[in-house]
Amino acid sequence: MKALVTGAGGMLACSLIPVLERAGHEVLALGRSDADVTRLEELLRHARSFRPDWIFHLAAYTKVDDCESRHDHAYLVNGVGARNAALAASSCGAAILAVSTDYVFDGTSAVPYREYHTAAPRSVYGASKWAGEQAVRELEPRHIVVRSSWLFGHGGANFVDTILRKASSGERLRVVDDQRGSPTWTHDLAGALVRLAAVRQFGTYHVTNSGDCTWFELAAYALAAAGVKVPLEPTDTAAYGRPAPRPAYSVLSNQLYEHATGHRMAHWQEAVERYLLAEGRSASAEAAGRR
Ligand SMILES: NC(=O)c1ccc[n+]([C@@H]2O[C@H](COP(=O)([O-])OP(=O)(O)OC[C@H]3O[C@@H](n4cnc5c(N)ncnc54)[C@H](OP(=O)(O)O)[C@@H]3O)[C@@H](O)[C@H]2O)c1
Repeated sequence: MKALVTGAGGMLACSLIPVLERAGHEVLALGRSDADVTRLEELLRHARSFRPDWIFHLAAYTKVDDCESRHDHAYLVNGVGARNAALAASSCGAAILAVSTDYVFDGTSAVPYREYHTAAPRSVYGASKWAGEQAVRELEPRHIVVRSSWLFGHGGANFVDTILRKASSGERLRVVDDQRGSPTWTHDLAGALVRLAAVRQFGTYHVTNSGDCTWFELAAYALAAAGVKVPLEPTDTAAYGRPAPRPAYSVLSNQLYEHATGHRMAHWQEAVERYLLAEGRSASAEAAGRR
């Protein structure tokens, strides 16, 4: 297939582009300087000249706390940007796969969220991503919307790297223990996106590494897997005081993804171990083979 990727400078794209290329697909990778997704004419120009089979729309304004004070910018990039990507897909007969977030949910569920659960975003980031989802659904019937969560991976600022960096600089580590979700390695998510595009069963999917934990539990696991022994203290969301509200519970059910692709996502602990091994940060090679 011919795949046009937006947001090519970002963390998920850093995994998706090589996964697509290794599978033999032809890729046009567009960073922000190649195509600003808020400018429809730039996306249309690339779509019409490259003529992709799929547009993988990854570009987003992902600074969750800054979105609270940059409301218009968040809607422009995450809402209008997704609309423009869908219009670009329609202009050249491509299908679109757009990536969204667990933050479209309010976090009041006690069981994993399914695709049909009502979205009720609590943050500007979540609301702007929900606006983008809706635009994609309305404008291009050949769409796949994939909600994922708690991404970590090469080529972007992420929680696992931040914890290990803070630990090595001797900073006091206090991590919230009252938000529960599913950490997801971008490499595993990239494989899932390519699988979903291949089966062409259009619609909305939840895709994360399996299992769930709190940020505190993720920090503890990553430190242990990297062989770093430092004190780690649990704290809570109220004490941490971030501008954007986060869902207390945002575990997503992968059942529909498994049904469509026949593939089961790896457990998040295994994914953390493989990530650290790939980054040369694992405590031991055996850690990767433990599961
Ligand atoms: N990170 C997570 O935990 C998480 C969880 C669930 C879903 N997601 C979704 O997954 C997707 C990929 O996220 P990610 O973690 O890879 O984010 P990321 O590293 O922030 O990548 C997003 C990319 O989009 C680019 N971008 C921003 N504004 C743009 C514009 N107007 N035109 C074109 N490109 C623009 C950014 O460029 P600059 O760096 O130059 O701004 C960046 O390279 C996003 O849709 C995100 O909402 C992320």
